Amino acid sequence: MVREGIALVDRDEDGVDRAFRADVLAGLAQPQKAVPARWFYDEQGSELFEQITDLPEYYPTRAETEILDERGEELSALIGQGRAVVEFGSGSSTKTPLLLQAIAPAAYVPLDISGDFLRASAADLACKFPGLPVHPLEADFMKPVELPQAVAGVPKLGFFPGSTIGNMVARTAIDLLRSMRQTLGSDAMLLIGMDLIKDVAVLEAAYDDAQGVTAEFNFNLIHRINRELGGTVPLEAFRHEARWNDIHARIEMHLVAREPVSFTVSDQRFTMDAGESIHTENSHKFDLRSSFLLLLAGGWTPRQRWTDRAGRFSLILAEASTPRTAP
Ligand code: TRP
Repeated sequence: MVREGIALVDRDEDGVDRAFRADVLAGLAQPQKAVPARWFYDEQGSELFEQITDLPEYYPTRAETEILDERGEELSALIGQGRAVVEFGSGSSTKTPLLLQAIAPAAYVPLDISGDFLRASAADLACKFPGLPVHPLEADFMKPVELPQAVAGVPKLGFFPGSTIGNMVARTAIDLLRSMRQTLGSDAMLLIGMDLIKDVAVLEAAYDDAQGVTAEFNFNLIHRINRELGGTVPLEAFRHEARWNDIHARIEMHLVAREPVSFTVSDQRFTMDAGESIHTENSHKFDLRSSFLLLLAGGWTPRQRWTDRAGRFSLILAEASTPRTAP
C-alpha cells in the first residue's frame, strides 16, 4: 500500500521552482560558476542517472549491490527486525529490495525531491512487498524532515546508498548527518555507502564514460535552465569534463566553455571566457579513516564496514552516537 505525500516544491505564479532559480542565479554570479548538483534530478535527469548506473565504467552501483547481496545475514543480525527504513534520495530504489528482504522492516519511507519518479518507484516497491506499509515523502532531504505519523514510535534505520554523501563538501555532509540523526531519533541506525579512493584513471572514467551518458547527464542541467528558467545558454559552446582534485579527494564535473560565451537566465546576463567552467558536481572519495571521521563528526558511531570483493566501494553501518560533554 502506498500513501501519498505532500508536494513541498515552492513555485511562483509562472510555475518556476523558486529555489532552482535562486540557486542558478546565485551560482552563476560567483567567480567560479557553480550550480548545486541536486538540480540534475528532474525526471529526465533521474532517468539518465539510472542509465549511468548500468555503464561499464560506472562501478559504484554494482559494487554496492554486491555488498548488499552478499551481506544480508550479517545486516539482519546487526540491524534486527521491525525498524522503519527511511531512504534518503531514493530515486528508483533499485538497491532497496535487497535490504528489505534481508531485514524484514516494519515500514518503508522513501524520500526524494523528484515527486513523480518517487511515487512510481514507491508503487513498484509496494507491489514487490505486499503488506509492507510504504509512505513516500516528496521532500528535500537536506533539511530535517517530519516523518509520517504512522512510524512515530518505531525505531528507524536510515538508508543512504550510492555515495550521495560524497556529493557534498565536508561541512554540508556533516550538517546532513546531524539532521538525519535528528529526523531519525536517538535510537536510530544508519546504513550508508561511501565510494573509495582509487586509481585516478578508473575514477575519471567512471564520470566520463565512452558512450557519453554522463556528459548528457551533465548537459541536462543546461537543458533544464533553458527550459524552466527561460535561459539562452548555448549547449554547443560547452564540453563535459571530469577531473580529480587531490586536495579535496574528489572527482569534479564541469561544463567548460569551448569559446567565449554570453547568455541570459531569467533576464540576467552572464559572460564566460574560453576555458572557464560551470562546476556542477563533486564526488568525494574516502578511505577507512576519512569515512569514519565524517560519520563521527556527524553524530554517528560506525559499527561495521564492508567492501566489495574488488575493494572499490564501502558500506558502513553506524548507530546514533550518545552526546557527551566529557571524553
Ligand atoms: N553519488 C554518486 C556518485 O557520486 C552518484 C552520482 C551523483 C553521480 N551525481 C553523479 C554519478 C554524476 C555520475 C555523475 O558517484
